[in-house]
Amino acid sequence: MEIYLHSRPAGLVAEAILSIVADLTGEWFTTDVAPATERDLLFQDVFCAIQDGRIRSFIMFTSHDGAIHITLTGTSPAYRGQGIGSALMKRLELHAGALGFDEIVVFTVPPASKPVYQATVDFYRKHGFKVVKEYRELWQNGALELRKSLRESSQY
Ligand SMILES: CC(C)(COP(=O)(O)OP(=O)(O)OC[C@H]1O[C@@H](n2cnc3c(N)ncnc32)[C@H](O)[C@@H]1OP(=O)(O)O)[C@@H](O)C(=O)NCCC(=O)NCCS
Repeated sequence: MEIYLHSRPAGLVAEAILSIVADLTGEWFTTDVAPATERDLLFQDVFCAIQDGRIRSFIMFTSHDGAIHITLTGTSPAYRGQGIGSALMKRLELHAGALGFDEIVVFTVPPASKPVYQATVDFYRKHGFKVVKEYRELWQNGALELRKSLRESSQY
């Protein structure tokens, strides 16, 4: 597997990311995610993992209030559970730490409102994220905020 960092990807890289988003739309993502991602790509950075000659997984991120925010991540359904998402997460952690960031933040869908997201929350927990807040008013069915500290001594 190879991992590349793309800043504001366009062209074929953007197409590959949007194709993974399309594959995850329905079971996971609502239909508004693809057009929103197309616009977000104009401003954000993405680590992409190549397996069998194609981009199979991505992790898109930005900085907000001084912390790295994962804005979207996804692995092609046929490539899930092979460690690709974990490799991207580790690469993002190294990247964020090297840039001097202390924290990574991610918002996701509460499994209580959409049970498939239990696997997603388990994935983030496995990588050391902790649920810090639930917002009932965000998105269609609420959102969970998870945070991971990149420093040894922290409240998270
Ligand atoms: C979450 C996601 C990005 C992880 O990517 P991945 O390449 O599958 O990640 P890995 O293979 O490194 O880790 C898989 C982990 O996910 C969890 N998982 C749960 N159900 C799973 C399933 N059916 N297949 C694969 N992994 C599953 C497990 O915790 C697993 O850990 P394990 O290796 O100890 O079993 C990916 O599964 C995905 O695209 N999910 C749907 C979209 C999504 O929820 N995106 C995040 C929105 S905020």
